Amino acid sequence: MKAELTFADIGITVRVPAGTRVIDVSEKVGSTIVYGCREGDCGTCLMHVIKGGENLSQPSVLEDKVLKENMAGKQFRLACQAQILGNVTVGPA
Ligand code: FES
Repeated sequence: MKAELTFADIGITVRVPAGTRVIDVSEKVGSTIVYGCREGDCGTCLMHVIKGGENLSQPSVLEDKVLKENMAGKQFRLACQAQILGNVTVGPA
């Protein structure tokens, strides 16, 4: 199954296999989302989910903890953790 991931900051949409993580795409296309640990620990990759948040994988216990520590609202996820399951639009936090 394919899904479309749109980066609002650069106006680019890519079709990816379901299950792809945002981090696996965003650097290749030049999105301005930035990364640190890449392991769901530092919170640097916090991104704004503009549309289709229900089409991202549920946050793991680890991601949930980092989101809470960053007082992130429901429309924010970690780009190194969230898997794309359907059409989603994201941008930098
Ligand atoms: S890069 Fe550290 S939590 Fe995503």
